[in-house]
Amino acid sequence: MDSDWGAVVAKLKGDAFYRDTFARLYPDGISGANIADAIAHYERTLLTPNSRFDRFLLGDKEALSALERSGYWRFLELGCASCHQGVGIGGNMFQRFGVMADYFAGRPPGKADLGRFSVTGREEDRHVFKVPSLRNVALTAPYFHDASAATLEEAVTIMARFQLGRELPAEDLQAITAFLRSLTGEWEGRPLE
Ligand code: HEC
Repeated sequence: MDSDWGAVVAKLKGDAFYRDTFARLYPDGISGANIADAIAHYERTLLTPNSRFDRFLLGDKEALSALERSGYWRFLELGCASCHQGVGIGGNMFQRFGVMADYFAGRPPGKADLGRFSVTGREEDRHVFKVPSLRNVALTAPYFHDASAATLEEAVTIMARFQLGRELPAEDLQAITAFLRSLTGEWEGRPLE
């Protein structure tokens, strides 16, 4: 987040709660490595199974409405699943944002827009981003690395245009966003809201 370990460690050391908790869990207290370890342990608890789509895939055909099912087929037919794929419905590859048209044309260059280039320095990584998982996507607006899409409808319209070169008819947009809303799961046995 555009910070550095010196600043992060100093900030946490200034907070009694973090000082005490890290002292209890790690012999050497607050350090960059221990903060990364703590965050990794936390992230491993962020499992949100049993969305209606998961139940549908497990054989419960009624778990999705007709509209949601048709959205799923459109998601497959249009090619969304060539990038948003696997158990996470995304999260397992890097891809350029702007495959069919230049998404970044006509706006001032922002550092975050460079994407993976900022990490690797390789020209072919310019505007390349991690394909995000679409699990729980209905709950995580605004969308994209720059938070430029306020709604799912807007995000899907932009995806179809810039990643697939398609202008979506209203009924496709409605069906696909309905499908995406079926990807909301449960955390520790309770539905996410
Ligand atoms: C060529 C790969 C590719 C294809 C095809 C693609 N996407 Fe994406 N999608 C991405 C990438 C990369 C991002 C992240 C962009 C960013 O962060 O700026 C993304 C982001 C999104 C987001 C925002 C998620 C978030 O949490 O911010 C949604 C929603 C989405 N895609 C849905 C779709 C849908 C629906 C389709 C089909 C119409 C589709 N995508 C097709 C690569 C793709």
